[in-house]
Amino acid sequence: METPIYDFLKKYSSSGTLRCHMPGHKGIGGELPYDLDITEITGADSLFEADGIILRAEKNTSHLYGTAASFFSAGGSTLCIQAMLAAMKFQGRTVVAVRNVHRAFLNAAALLDLDVRWILPDYTDGILSGRISLEDTEKALASVNKPCLYVTSPDYTGRLADIPALAEICRRYGAPLLVDNAHGAHLRFFPESLHPISLGADICCDSAHKMLPALTGAAFLHTSRAEYGAVLRQCMSLFASTSPSYLIMCSLDLCNKYLAEKISVDIGSGLERLKKLRGRFSDRLFFAESEPFHITVRAAESGYDGNELAALLRKNGVECEYSDCGTVILLMSPVNTGEDFRRLGGALEKSLDEAEKHPRTLIRTAFVLPERAMSVREAVFSPSEEIPVDEAEGRICGAVKVPCPPAVPIAASGEIIDRSCINIFKTYGISSVIVVK
Ligand SMILES: Cc1ncc(COP(=O)(O)O)c(C=O)c1O
Repeated sequence: METPIYDFLKKYSSSGTLRCHMPGHKGIGGELPYDLDITEITGADSLFEADGIILRAEKNTSHLYGTAASFFSAGGSTLCIQAMLAAMKFQGRTVVAVRNVHRAFLNAAALLDLDVRWILPDYTDGILSGRISLEDTEKALASVNKPCLYVTSPDYTGRLADIPALAEICRRYGAPLLVDNAHGAHLRFFPESLHPISLGADICCDSAHKMLPALTGAAFLHTSRAEYGAVLRQCMSLFASTSPSYLIMCSLDLCNKYLAEKISVDIGSGLERLKKLRGRFSDRLFFAESEPFHITVRAAESGYDGNELAALLRKNGVECEYSDCGTVILLMSPVNTGEDFRRLGGALEKSLDEAEKHPRTLIRTAFVLPERAMSVREAVFSPSEEIPVDEAEGRICGAVKVPCPPAVPIAASGEIIDRSCINIFKTYGISSVIVVK
């Protein structure tokens, strides 16, 4: 596959042109990464008015993902989430969202002054992950005017929502289906595509940097509906820097080449290795239901403290994506080699031998939707103070304070913090909260 952005940058960097333009590093004598980092010079196109090399690269992405349009983001899925929600605001839609959203959603809700209607999932892996009830979804969509539905799938633990069923319900209520697929850019290239766009979503974002070989901050915004094309680009430009990084865009361009030429083979071997790894530890560990590249260990249920297991893994040369007392998430990608899996298997074996065994416990989060006192925007922009969690009962949650990762809200801004929130805050090691004064 052609790589128009990369080719342009390489040609320019070797041309010896005197850079009387931004950025100020001037290419620093041709050194990486500066040599390929430029601004919107002649021929380099411009992300938010793309009609040259960037548009060509985006069209390649669109072709690879089978979308009506795909856009590059140098601001991660965060920017894509802002853009898709802004597009819904343009249409005057009410956002119905499944609660285990990432903080990026809550911040966008504050910026756009959204009146979010929540659906509580049946939380099965702490606050990180839950099963979405189709009945609850249908009820929520039926209860509002001009709805759209926002779901996170895969969620932080890799759990996939039933996108085809949700898409079918959405169609009945004329509701666009928006999917935060930050963790699922690779799903398109499974033997049978599990990507939200293939399964019926209208708009979704993929953090290419999470699951594909792309630089941090690189993401795709996709839509299956041609009519959203222009508005999504416009909405992205509302929030984005006017100087999107060419290095990040170049990494998306090179990622296209990887997707076209190599990922299917890598996914095939990755799936085999993941199956073997899970099988090898199946008598010692319980794994959460997830897409295969998220290895989510139910540590507490397996008789281990998740944080202790993560520390032992670190000692044995493996840094995990996330741990809490009940869970350890090891994130692999199609790029991982057989040698990586061999090392991971060895480190897991060693860490489990060294770990202290605890009684097996099943951590379930009993969560009731907190009462709402004001809008997300009002709460975020109100004067606030930080207080110890134990003193927060009855106070209104101000700015969102969630550990990042995983950045899932326990109380959202504008909600009244109750006893159940306090207990969950403590479980996740959060000792202070920001409340409205
Ligand atoms: C579920 C989910 N959505 C959105 C985001 C934001 O993505 P990005 O970091 O690409 O902006 C994250 C980041 O961790 C995430 O886990």
